[in-house]
Amino acid sequence: METLKRLEEIEKAGLDTLQQAADETALQAWKVTHLGRSSAVMTVFSQLPQLPKDERPAVGQRANLVKQALESAYTIRSQALKEAALNLALQSERLDVTLPGRRLIPGRLHLETRTLREVYRLFGEMGFQVYRSPDVETDDNNFGLLNIPEYHPARDMWDTFHTQTPGVVLRTHTSPGQIRAMREYAPEPIRVILPGMCYRYEQVTVRADIQFYQVEVLAVGRHITFGNLKGTLTEFARRMYGVDVRLRFRPSYFPFTEPSAELDVECFICGGLGCPVCKNSGWLEILGCGMIHPVVLQNGGYDPREFSGFAAGMGTGRVSMLRHRIDDIRNLWLNDIRFLEQF
Ligand code: PHE
Repeated sequence: METLKRLEEIEKAGLDTLQQAADETALQAWKVTHLGRSSAVMTVFSQLPQLPKDERPAVGQRANLVKQALESAYTIRSQALKEAALNLALQSERLDVTLPGRRLIPGRLHLETRTLREVYRLFGEMGFQVYRSPDVETDDNNFGLLNIPEYHPARDMWDTFHTQTPGVVLRTHTSPGQIRAMREYAPEPIRVILPGMCYRYEQVTVRADIQFYQVEVLAVGRHITFGNLKGTLTEFARRMYGVDVRLRFRPSYFPFTEPSAELDVECFICGGLGCPVCKNSGWLEILGCGMIHPVVLQNGGYDPREFSGFAAGMGTGRVSMLRHRIDDIRNLWLNDIRFLEQF
């Protein structure tokens, strides 16, 4: 019987080619060819009615067996392939948990941030709150209301970055915050510090950069004296550098304070011997200060006959330099990790 022989060949061909199906796609293709609707076995089934009646049972039975054989061979092969794929994945994705990990380099606070926080803490202990004011200021707040009218020669004390908007500048000092704070609090007494970045269009040197932090100190009340100014700033310097620190107040000039002074700290960088940072003087200026000028008090909304106050503006870059004996202020904003990670 011809058909029975063909079934034998169909089975053999199916089983042989099955071994060559090496992955899931090949296996599915095999299945379509050998067990699909138009596969050879299925064709035998569909042509069964055309066979002589007496041959049909034997062919039918045989065809069923072939189909079953192919199906179970397929199942076995499919499982074998899955297992092989799993083993391969386990091999290639193996993780050696005993390998040492990569070292994490923790971030840390910038030197200036730490100095600023120390300044906040020390003034906080003396009853001062932090007051924020903007980096971009009106010419009026930065100069005019601080008793520095236009064309006044004192404007040369601050080399200014102007913006494209007339009358708007990058603040050259934190003093414009005095006006903002006074106008907000008047006629209440004030004790605040105003930290912030300041900008000056000037020559960069080891002791002066074009941008730097300042902290403004502002106290306004009914009985504030120069003694309060000296006491507060001396106390601050002692808490910052130690009780033995050598300080000196020098008379100075600022249009918005009268009288005015500057506070020098002994230069720790050279130990007072003289170096480029202290310009060979052995002293480093850390702040300007004075009693608030009556005109400024008035501009802030206080009656200068009843109120008085003191103000100071401190460059914290200098404070950081003194604390850590840094001999070049440019290091602060260079953001060289080799420098920063020392602190
Ligand atoms: N604003 C001044 C400066 O930057 C410092 C200063 C502040 C002086 C407050 C007196 C009072 O040079």
